[in-house]
Amino acid sequence: MQNFGKVAVLMGGFSSEREISLDSGAAIVEALRSKGVDAHPFDPKETPLGELKTQGFQTAFNILHGTYGEDGAVQGALELLGIPYTGSGVAASAIGMDKYRCKLIWQALGLPVPEFAVLREDSDFEAVEQSLGLPMFVKPAAEGSSVGVVKVKESGRLKAVYEELKHLQGEIIAERFIGGGEYSCPVLGGKGLPSIRIIPATEFYDYEAKYNRDDTVYQCPSDLNDNDEALIRELAVRAADAVGAQGCSRVDFLKDEAGKLYILEINTLPGMTGHSLVPKSAAQTGVGFADLCVEILKTAHVG
Ligand SMILES: Nc1ncnc2c1ncn2[C@@H]1O[C@H](COP(=O)(O)OP(=O)(O)O)[C@@H](O)[C@H]1O
Ligand SMILES: [Mg+2]
Repeated sequence: MQNFGKVAVLMGGFSSEREISLDSGAAIVEALRSKGVDAHPFDPKETPLGELKTQGFQTAFNILHGTYGEDGAVQGALELLGIPYTGSGVAASAIGMDKYRCKLIWQALGLPVPEFAVLREDSDFEAVEQSLGLPMFVKPAAEGSSVGVVKVKESGRLKAVYEELKHLQGEIIAERFIGGGEYSCPVLGGKGLPSIRIIPATEFYDYEAKYNRDDTVYQCPSDLNDNDEALIRELAVRAADAVGAQGCSRVDFLKDEAGKLYILEINTLPGMTGHSLVPKSAAQTGVGFADLCVEILKTAHVG
């Protein structure tokens, strides 16, 4: 076993996803300890990050979500402190939080993304409705947890939805509805892991389905045939690569009725609770939760 020294599991933090992060963090500390790693919880909300140095930490396992956790801010601080950390660096973390700029990059590379339009005060909302069709999805580019994600079904509603959402983070984007199923594919150390099919019991995978209900079905292995499974992993690796993601990330997909896969978004800091998607997928390859945590820890880097 590589010697990681004293390891801080960065958890909690300042974002609305604090509780989820604390859940993941506790599981990771326990798992790493079971593998003989000298792991300790570290919550930057309670202890200033600079204390990592004074407390003698040599490596950081980052499981902070959202603002300051997966947007490049804490990554920049760790760079300054010179402490190797897991996951993506500053730029990839920041880009990964921004659905609009991810799409621009993926599109430029010819990767499949749902057709979209950016909505602004002076947009021709009727023309957008004509070109994307109904229903369509409207969402802020830089939120998460389905916050502000709206399925627009009625003609003439688009402008009103834009007005409701425009105060949220990032550009407001309208997207063609892709209705043939939802998938997610983890990427670890540059390789795609088995995909997972997500079947929400709600109309789409909204906040309720993500956090307050236990009837969402997760299938792993998913129902993709061998060709599509190979394709989704290849697309996931290319999508992660394109934004410069490192370590462990997770790329979400939609499939249309004709079976074509589209990249929906990337998550550069996926959850790691006992029932999170990445551990489910790794388990399919025979890698248990504790080994997965060690594999992720091995990807720690600085600079
Ligand atoms: N273009 C779309 N077509 C069909 N469903 C969509 C589309 N965009 C979003 N959704 C649904 O909304 C959910 C949340 O949207 P997403 O873009 O992933 O935002 P978040 O970052 O909040 O998860 C998706 O998991 C999916 O169920
Ligand atoms: Mg999502």
